[in-house]
Amino acid sequence: MIRVALVQNAPIFGDVSGNLSRVRSLLATRKESSPDLVVLPELFASGYQFVSRQEAMELGEPSGEDGSKPGETVSFLEALSRETGGWVVGGLPIRRGSRVFNSSIVASGGTVRAVYDKTHLFEAENRWFDRGEGPLCLVETPFGKLGVMICFDWLFPEVTRTLALGGATVIAHPVNWVLPFGPQGMILRSVENRVFSVTANRVGEESRGGLPALRYIGSSQVVSPAGQILARASGSAEELLELSIDPDLSRDKRVVEESDFFRQRRPELYAR
Ligand code: ACM
Repeated sequence: MIRVALVQNAPIFGDVSGNLSRVRSLLATRKESSPDLVVLPELFASGYQFVSRQEAMELGEPSGEDGSKPGETVSFLEALSRETGGWVVGGLPIRRGSRVFNSSIVASGGTVRAVYDKTHLFEAENRWFDRGEGPLCLVETPFGKLGVMICFDWLFPEVTRTLALGGATVIAHPVNWVLPFGPQGMILRSVENRVFSVTANRVGEESRGGLPALRYIGSSQVVSPAGQILARASGSAEELLELSIDPDLSRDKRVVEESDFFRQRRPELYAR
């Protein structure tokens, strides 16, 4: 069994320090001092509704992977992983030279272990961010392989499937969901791949630069390989969810005794 913590916050756009401090307070209420996995939402400290590429560049942080000084959110995630002794996944804009990505960082032991750049950008994100070119993100951990995907990636079922075929036992899924069908849809992603999903969403609203207002639906959740909602947050409040899961359950791909989803696949019949 591993202990999982999931943060659902309501960032104020551009107030990175204030948002990190609020997340720190939410995390301070946790019962488990050493969760094995902490998942935070997409763009959890910057806010989501960018109105220009320049804004994304300005809020974009160096990941520190090339030896440069990591940004404030990166340092926060690294420090959190040092403090918990576990694995931490959270979303932020990452700047590399003249490019900027909607990314998620995987940190453990106080260090960035992987950076995943979102490969399927949603709506206006296509104007502000560069598209990640892969590979998809699988990281070896003591509880098996941890897969990472970001928000809209979930509606491309190939992403979850590829992570599951690659051996993911748990998929960390930072999101900023506004569409209503995400929470129910992710139940199917977990079931059809027999994998745990840990989806961390934000709450609150943003209305910037004359763009249509966005209302984030919260409902962060953890779903089992059998499709049970093990925990689900409210649609409007900042929350911290904590629970235990057994990642080894993801290794059994049978949906019923004689039907193993992965053995019965017919990839030769599928579109490419
Ligand atoms: C989304 O991809 N943030 C909806």
